[in-house]
Amino acid sequence: MHKKLYIPGPIEVSPEILEAMATPMIGHRMPEYAHLHKGVTDKLKQLMSTDDRVFLSTSSAFGAMEGAVRNLVGKRCANFCNGAFSDKWHKVTLSCGKEADPFNVEWGEPITPELVDSALSTGKYDAITLIHNETSTGVMSPLPEIAEVLRKYPDVVSIVDTVSSMSALNIPVSELAIDCCVFGVQKAFALPPGLAVFTASERALERAKTVPGRGYYFDFLEFLAADEKDNTPSTPCISLIYAMDRQLERIFAEGLEQRWQRHADMANFMRNWVQEQGFGILPAEGYRSITLTCATNDRGVDLGLVKKRLGERGIAFDDGYGKLKGRTFRIAHMGDMKIADLEQITTEMERILQDL
Ligand SMILES: Cc1ncc(COP(=O)(O)O)c(C=O)c1O
Repeated sequence: MHKKLYIPGPIEVSPEILEAMATPMIGHRMPEYAHLHKGVTDKLKQLMSTDDRVFLSTSSAFGAMEGAVRNLVGKRCANFCNGAFSDKWHKVTLSCGKEADPFNVEWGEPITPELVDSALSTGKYDAITLIHNETSTGVMSPLPEIAEVLRKYPDVVSIVDTVSSMSALNIPVSELAIDCCVFGVQKAFALPPGLAVFTASERALERAKTVPGRGYYFDFLEFLAADEKDNTPSTPCISLIYAMDRQLERIFAEGLEQRWQRHADMANFMRNWVQEQGFGILPAEGYRSITLTCATNDRGVDLGLVKKRLGERGIAFDDGYGKLKGRTFRIAHMGDMKIADLEQITTEMERILQDL
């Protein structure tokens, strides 16, 4: 039995997208691929409101996240850590042989502009990593306010993970002073996993030229040279790029404003429901993710059992990430989902909670 996905990624994939993936294969050095590549990167630039380069990486998000630190950290990196993925990014930065310091806040808290300012005011760093939407805790940090701070530090290259937020709300990459914006496609884009997208500003590309040890697979300068020919350095996941092309068409057909509103409406629906049911929400108001709700288990229910019962009903449910397992649960509301999908899981959950 297929379990319908309410976990925060991978997200349920529409039949139309799966169909696009079955498009007959082409060679990536054929003109047909260059045409596809240009169409996809142009649409992504429009979606992200940027004229920066947009590169397609055949990897999961962490491939491009590792590539970004390899290419862009020259002197020392400030890793802002407020959950499982940002903590991991610090470890990845160190494992690439880079000098780096973690700036930790409690899981469930946002990264604040004040924290970014105090870290950068030391003058020790020439790059930062920041996760916009920490999927492990359902926290969304305030990008526009952080961007104001970044403007004070023109020598610092900003690397921002929008893995679980890109396309669900307006993230104008250039206006937000993001030099390298990275995301995977298995979250709000609702595509199967295996493709990551990243942008590179002029400043990022200039930095990459000065940084040794960039490797090959994720070398930004290799991506740049290939992009001149609407191509990628290595054989790309062409089927997924067809799927991305179709999904971008669907996104623009829905309309960006409408898409952002749909995500905001779903987030409101889910936040209201968890509170009506006597659960809490981990992040404080103002920092709650628009693409998932991370609820605190204030009723002390056996979340493992809830997960099992939902599974028997054909629903995949997440009972907390890492050290938050059992203490929180996360419900996704992103991609192609609608309120009706949320009503389905909440109805089933109400029945299960009544029986427990
Ligand atoms: C915010 C965030 N960053 C990074 C990742 C890692 O992505 P991947 O598993 O595609 O490498 C995830 C995955 O859930 C994520 O949610």
